[in-house]
Amino acid sequence: MNLPLSTEFHTENSAISDFRTEVLKGLNSHPKKLSSKYFYDKTGDQIFQKIMQMPEYYLTKCELDIFQNKTKEIADNIIINNSPFDLIELGAGDAMKSSFLIEYLVQNGVEFNYMPIDISGNILSVLNDKLSQKVPDLSIIPLEGEYFDMLNKATEISTRRKVVLFLGGNIGNMDKEESSHFCRELRRKLNPGDLVLMGFDLMKHPQIILDAYNDDAGITAQFNLNLLVRINRELEADFDVLQFQHYQTYDPLTGACKSYLVSMTEQKVHIGNNEFAFEENEAIDMEVSQKFSPSDIDKLAKESGYYVLKEIRDSKNWFVDSIWQV
Ligand code: AVI
Repeated sequence: MNLPLSTEFHTENSAISDFRTEVLKGLNSHPKKLSSKYFYDKTGDQIFQKIMQMPEYYLTKCELDIFQNKTKEIADNIIINNSPFDLIELGAGDAMKSSFLIEYLVQNGVEFNYMPIDISGNILSVLNDKLSQKVPDLSIIPLEGEYFDMLNKATEISTRRKVVLFLGGNIGNMDKEESSHFCRELRRKLNPGDLVLMGFDLMKHPQIILDAYNDDAGITAQFNLNLLVRINRELEADFDVLQFQHYQTYDPLTGACKSYLVSMTEQKVHIGNNEFAFEENEAIDMEVSQKFSPSDIDKLAKESGYYVLKEIRDSKNWFVDSIWQV
């Protein structure tokens, strides 16, 4: 007899099976590829926290500078005729940057609900505790799940005007096709007049960019290698992690900053019943962190159906939060 699966069990299983399917597909392609969206297991989250504190990794500091020091400018651009709105944050994490904006809006009597969306229920409860203490008058509606599913939920809960935050330069971790698909899908979920505030890492001196992803302490290398450890643990695989080395590139012409794991020897790796042969020096394509020119951002906005309302940059001119209107 088939017993009905509990939703939780089912979600858990389908997440693993999606992970397996994507890993097998990626390692069967030429060149071999793994998706950086799987970097973020528990250890990956911890390594990413370390990355954000590295002296070379400027992205978080730059965007924090914008949210801390240009809060009024952001607020002035998202408040329209004092109409109440829903402030939705995709991948909110612990709301480190957005909390400055949220506090400012509450202090200035702006009427809004804050709807943080995150795949991790754990981080949402941390965020909820932190914000309820810091900003007791805030109306907060946490939504746990995938971005677009939760955006649907947000529109079911409230018909207010929407302002969507997508920070951190996460858009850069998608290739060109994925990012334009993502922006178009996002637009389809929104109504005319709704706003999106998106963080973009700008092109700058190539060495500054390369250093941010090629740190001397080898933390970014660990971040990449941890995905092999995760595959070993979750998919019964036998990667010899010591036989792979992190290699980073930045192409100042295209703005693509890419990481690879290079096989140090000819070797075979097994994932369940599947065997993968690696040649010596063969590379796995791991992650792109795309850097943008101002015209790249304009093009992406226009092609996906938005009008660029405002650009807010950090004091070094290295990072931009771009405000788009549907
Ligand atoms: C999350 N994302 C914007 C980071 C980035 O800069 O591409 C991930 C990262 N990869 C290596 N270092 C940081």
